[in-house]
Amino acid sequence: MTTTVTAKAHTNIALVKYWGKKDAQLMLPQNGSISLTLDKFYTQTSVIFDNQLEQDQITFNGQTLTASKAQRISRFLDLVRQRSGQSAAAKVVTENHVPTSAGLASSASGFAALAAAASRAADMQLDNTALSRLARRGSGSATRSIFGGFVEWHAGHDDASSYAECLQDPVDWDVQMIAVVLKKTQKPISSTAGMARVVATSPYYPAWVQTANQDLVAMRRAIQARDLTTLGEIAETNAMRMHALNLSAKPAFNYFTAETLTAIQAVNDLRANGITCYYTLDAGPNVKIICAGHDTAMITRELSRYFDSEQLIVAKPGPGITISEND
Ligand code: PMV
Repeated sequence: MTTTVTAKAHTNIALVKYWGKKDAQLMLPQNGSISLTLDKFYTQTSVIFDNQLEQDQITFNGQTLTASKAQRISRFLDLVRQRSGQSAAAKVVTENHVPTSAGLASSASGFAALAAAASRAADMQLDNTALSRLARRGSGSATRSIFGGFVEWHAGHDDASSYAECLQDPVDWDVQMIAVVLKKTQKPISSTAGMARVVATSPYYPAWVQTANQDLVAMRRAIQARDLTTLGEIAETNAMRMHALNLSAKPAFNYFTAETLTAIQAVNDLRANGITCYYTLDAGPNVKIICAGHDTAMITRELSRYFDSEQLIVAKPGPGITISEND
């Protein structure tokens, strides 16, 4: 029996997106990405390796996962076992603090928390860079959730060179996000399959990589200059180019619903009326609005013409990972 280790990681939203792998096994992305970690949504995971267990036992929000659902997590634990020399099965208890049915990606905070808790429970003492590399193997976006504030994931060219780094934390200026949580629909395609398809079939893919690399340079500057307008413009254009890849894939797919387009139009209308706000979208219908904190009340009031108040969640920049040993 080892010690129970608990880790807490917050989710992040990419401002310059990762959308395509160049190595699926090592989870190396085609281009670097930049994100903002959010305070509202997080995952807390406890791990203990226990010789008495016959197989990994995984509980998610109070429910024991079936073997098939637990497979992705067990595969990740195998990597930790292989690296640490720990051979026992693990008991994993995960609480996901993302509002019920929010449909916001939880793999980022989920695998970041799992990487931190499992590696420490297996007696590996990893620094945040090494943790970021490990989390990457669970889910690409988890690479960035080790850190708080603005974070950049360097694409790299092998396991050692592909990791995230903090660009700014704490975030000492007024930038926030409003998550517009839309009706949960069946995802048309998983992010893994969607990415693979655009890399293989979109004729625009090389242009995406080229412009995403330019976006990284400009985004770094905007963050450093604390320039919300430039940050928002880059993020919005980058998101739409990512979704244009999906529309140009063969066969084409997209994650938008009618409500997604309503939210986009509402942001465009607000901006036409002089409000500094921009949208970004990931592999799902939800819209995230980038704006200043002092405008969130007005923007949510405006959006409440189309959406219920519980669909509008205001989030601030959030912290990096925390790890504690329970006994
Ligand atoms: O979380 P993953 O590794 O399946 O990839 C998610 C990719 C996007 O959320 C769409 C973009 C990003 O960089 O987070």
